[in-house]
Amino acid sequence: MTIKKATATAHPNIALIKYWGNIDHELRLPSNGSISMNLGCLETRTTVMFKLEAKSDNLVLNGKAADLDAQKRITVFMNRVRELAGITDHAHIVSENNFPAGVGIASSSSAYAALSLAATKAAGLSLSERELSRLARTGSGSACRSIPEGFTEWITGDTHNKSYAESIAPPDHWNLKDCIAIVSQDHKEIGSTQGHEIAETSPLQASRIASAPERLDICRQSLLERDFKSFAEVVELDCNMMHAVMMTSNPTLLYWEAATLSIIKAVQSWRMDGLQVCYTIDAGPNVHVLCPNDIRAEVAEKLSGIPGVQKVITAGSGGRAQII
Ligand code: PMV
Repeated sequence: MTIKKATATAHPNIALIKYWGNIDHELRLPSNGSISMNLGCLETRTTVMFKLEAKSDNLVLNGKAADLDAQKRITVFMNRVRELAGITDHAHIVSENNFPAGVGIASSSSAYAALSLAATKAAGLSLSERELSRLARTGSGSACRSIPEGFTEWITGDTHNKSYAESIAPPDHWNLKDCIAIVSQDHKEIGSTQGHEIAETSPLQASRIASAPERLDICRQSLLERDFKSFAEVVELDCNMMHAVMMTSNPTLLYWEAATLSIIKAVQSWRMDGLQVCYTIDAGPNVHVLCPNDIRAEVAEKLSGIPGVQKVITAGSGGRAQII
């Protein structure tokens, strides 16, 4: 019996300029570029074991057998790895998050980043960061941004080879914190894979895509210059534009809860009062509130006091996906 085994870790990331919509759904080639920050203390740890005798891939997620849809998605991804490595063995995959399941922190970014690294290593491949980022993208678009370190940018690209993420600043470039205000732990009915597919039904998507390069430039520059004011404005604008597209898609995607709006309004008024805070929201109701490290405790405490906020999880910027 031959067992080829490897373990890797990766951090989830929060998008500062959002990815929403694809020009190629199968390859997950995005309609626009995006920028994100890896979330340091949050982590997925994945072990892949190829087994000669296994008849199919088998995924154990946070201690439980994954559901059929997740297993199917993993098999499509593992077929890609097998093709790259020229092998036919199936794998036993064990994946654990160190953050609680169902708190609305997108785990697909860290999941597919850790899986890309562990699976290719276990298959005997040694891919470059760029090759890994491309591969991770095919599992979950945002996962390509969890391969490089710190603050990363996903270059759009209209082919598989041209579409990958790279680091634009290391984790210690800017000591920002993401205070994640959890307002709901429910599983969302329409996930991002389906969401990307209906993005084009919104009459607003074309103009969101057309103006994305300008927001990417402002975000990249404000990040590099640590200019919080301009960073805050572009991050909120981009978030609002993505949610405007979601709300005007067919079917309508309305991810916000009442508490989501309360937090948005609170963050806006705190900033008017001089506090360096801004919000961003992914495909769910929980709100990511970004601020400099020195005010993180104050921000987390203020968020905890808003009715509807169940808990606040704080994370700083994190490194690259790694073999352990
Ligand atoms: O990687 P996916 O398919 O889960 O899509 C992620 C979509 C957003 O989280 C809403 C935005 C982003 O850029 O991460």
